[in-house]
Amino acid sequence: MSLPPTRWELVGEGNRGYGEHFADVVARGDDVDGEARLADALVARGARILDIGSGMGRVSAALQARGHHVVATEPDAALRAQSRATYPDLEVLPHEALALDPDEHGTFDLVVVVGNVMIYLGEGTERAVLQRIRDLLAPAGRALVGFELGSARAGSRTYPAEEFVADAEAAGLRVVHRFGSYELHEPVPDYAVWVLAGA
Ligand SMILES: C[S@@+](CC[C@H](N)C(=O)[O-])C[C@H]1O[C@@H](n2cnc3c(N)ncnc32)[C@H](O)[C@@H]1O
Repeated sequence: MSLPPTRWELVGEGNRGYGEHFADVVARGDDVDGEARLADALVARGARILDIGSGMGRVSAALQARGHHVVATEPDAALRAQSRATYPDLEVLPHEALALDPDEHGTFDLVVVVGNVMIYLGEGTERAVLQRIRDLLAPAGRALVGFELGSARAGSRTYPAEEFVADAEAAGLRVVHRFGSYELHEPVPDYAVWVLAGA
């Protein structure tokens, strides 16, 4: 099956700012672990965690450092190279979300899809990706998803909360929590952090 290019791929060179931004933040020693701290709180020790669209590796590396068994996957070769340079101990698969297979990769206590991955998926693939996330969950597994609802970034889509919830439910997932931040603020209009589980 041929997949449409991801919106991230279509932006191409224009999205280099993401990797450069986080490289600078990490080099300054500033905090980039907010998503990982919440992910860590959602699982038992030594959990199996999948990070879809792991980017330059910050979330996966922080979870690996906390003792979890992390599978990081990032289809953008430039970001994989940056991830290797910044976190040499983190292994990163090149798979895009729909190339992940529970028979091959196993199932997970937590699937992490943060940092706007959902608004950069290939056009029209959102429900299929949410179904794949559902298939990759262990029986009591959950997904942590976070993205900007309002101001679309260059090349990204706008994904209203109601549409995301409808897509998640159609994919066999249910919303367990919605927060406004990774510090669990109450919901806000422009950003959402979701905890999802199988319906
Ligand atoms: C802004 S970056 C965020 C990276 C990382 N999650 C973070 O928070 O630092 C968005 C990422 O979404 C990834 N992405 C977009 N569509 C994808 C897909 N279908 N499968 C896997 N990753 C995808 C891109 O390759 C890119 O790394």
